[in-house]
Amino acid sequence: MKDTEKFDLNDKELKETPEKIKKFRELIENTTKQDKEKAKLQNEKGKFTARERLQYLLDENSFFEIHSLVETRCQDFGLKEKHLKGDGVITGFGRINGREVAIFAQDFTQLGGSLGLAHAKKIAYIMDRALEAKIPIIGLLDSGGARIQEGVDSLDGYGEIFKRNVKCSGVIPQISVILGPCAGGAVYSPALTDFIFMVDGISHMFVTGPNVVKAATGEEVDLNTLGGSKAHAQKSGVCHVIANSEQDCFRQVRELLTFLPQNCKERPICSSTLDVADRQTPMLEKLSCMDPGKPFRIHHIIWELADENKFFEIHRDYAKNIITGFVKLGGEVVGIVANNSDYLGGALDLNASDKAARFVRFLNNFNIPILTLVDIGGYLPGVEQEHGGIIRHGAKLLYAYGEATVPKITLVIRKAYGGAYIAMGSKALGADFNFALPSAEFAVMGPRGAVEILYAKELKASAKDKTEELKEKLTKEYAQKFASPYQTAASGSIDEIIEPSKARSIIIRALKVLAKKRVAKTNESKGNIPL
Ligand code: HXC
Repeated sequence: MKDTEKFDLNDKELKETPEKIKKFRELIENTTKQDKEKAKLQNEKGKFTARERLQYLLDENSFFEIHSLVETRCQDFGLKEKHLKGDGVITGFGRINGREVAIFAQDFTQLGGSLGLAHAKKIAYIMDRALEAKIPIIGLLDSGGARIQEGVDSLDGYGEIFKRNVKCSGVIPQISVILGPCAGGAVYSPALTDFIFMVDGISHMFVTGPNVVKAATGEEVDLNTLGGSKAHAQKSGVCHVIANSEQDCFRQVRELLTFLPQNCKERPICSSTLDVADRQTPMLEKLSCMDPGKPFRIHHIIWELADENKFFEIHRDYAKNIITGFVKLGGEVVGIVANNSDYLGGALDLNASDKAARFVRFLNNFNIPILTLVDIGGYLPGVEQEHGGIIRHGAKLLYAYGEATVPKITLVIRKAYGGAYIAMGSKALGADFNFALPSAEFAVMGPRGAVEILYAKELKASAKDKTEELKEKLTKEYAQKFASPYQTAASGSIDEIIEPSKARSIIIRALKVLAKKRVAKTNESKGNIPL
């Protein structure tokens, strides 16, 4: 018997779409259809709509939406008549480079993407699913903040999201993409995530806007100066990656994900590369043997070492004395932390310590080996630094390296002086392999400073017109003693002095040796990082 006979359906019934299905399709179409006028307004601001964003960021046809029919709970202040689509946020799952992610996109065309109770619950729900499924969560934020009409309900909504940001922290990668306003306490959800992307000209983040700033402090400041992408990429350090358009931003988010595992139990995917492991790195020979007082951009060394010379930099414009980011070496993802003598002589200061410490902790959480490139004369001196808390901030970096159990490889290029030598992935702090180039210098402090202390009496006793000459001579002698890595190699504080041109192949070999490194946690306590 045919199915149609079994269910007793006549020809007309077979051809026509049932009413219930028609109604359902209409409803979904209405809910997911973008209002043209509102889309035009959004596009005129140089912004995509929430659905366009999902389409551009995710793999083609991979978006799978949930809770599209959720409605606004609050009926006051005319909200009932507004019929906000999905309560102003689109939530669901998609794929990026073929891998699953959970995602939400705030819809500014629906009451400014403001966050009410139902909106918050939708975000919280997919965060819970992402945490259980152990997949990254991405937020596309474009919102006027707490929905004023919903009062404390919307504030509680934020609290629920913050709580989940903390639960997800270190378990799954969390990425925030700011694509419009992000104001008031709303900024703290992105701030609790691992990476914040901003787009020049359209992204703004601030706790209190220009008007409140003026009323409270008398300062006059425009929106961009106060909370634009440049302010946060260069000054506050809130923004990790800056993009010049939304499309550029989505490309960079997709690229970042190629360096990340799906969760803290996995490792990043190892990719194939045509760049051979034993490619020579002659640039290191030239750069490392330059006068130690002459600055250069450490990027040249990073590019030379990396597969296909590619480096994905994090916090590019912030605390440029230390450089952080991702490379691949022999196809394996590696996190780079490197002193950059081209900015503040590469000295460690407040911001550089915070920047590097946070990055090292991220790498450690997500099983990404750390390659530290050392060229550092010490901590940045000065009253501002001391009173700003360089002791407290510097301690964060020591803590981060000290607790990291992922493979840690350190290469000393030129200077490794004093406390900064210890902080930068030293053997004493638990690095697995510490290499040095023949140009490396190890000392408790720089030669001139050391001579002034060691020979203070002799310098004082010398004839006034001869003091400088004597100081020069003693400085040279001291430098000769310490201006090489051989004494340090003899003591075992470094594991090997290596040929600069073989640096890439040796580091890749060391990574292979450490590929299965696992360190059992001995400490039951969670520790207390000096924040
Ligand atoms: C309700 C809001 C809203 C909000 C915007 N809208 N923000 N509705 N609650 N927080 C609505 C507007 O009324 C308008 O509705 C639509 O969204 C678009 O807003 P416009 O002002 O027309 O757009 P634009 O000129 O681009 O300005 C965007 C804006 C501005 C800069 C975001 O709307 C603004 O300043 N909003 C208030 C921001 C704010 O102070 N939020 C509270 C932050 S405190 P119609 O119907 O006209 O389309 C906070 C606390 C969180 O968030 C605490 C967590 C712990």
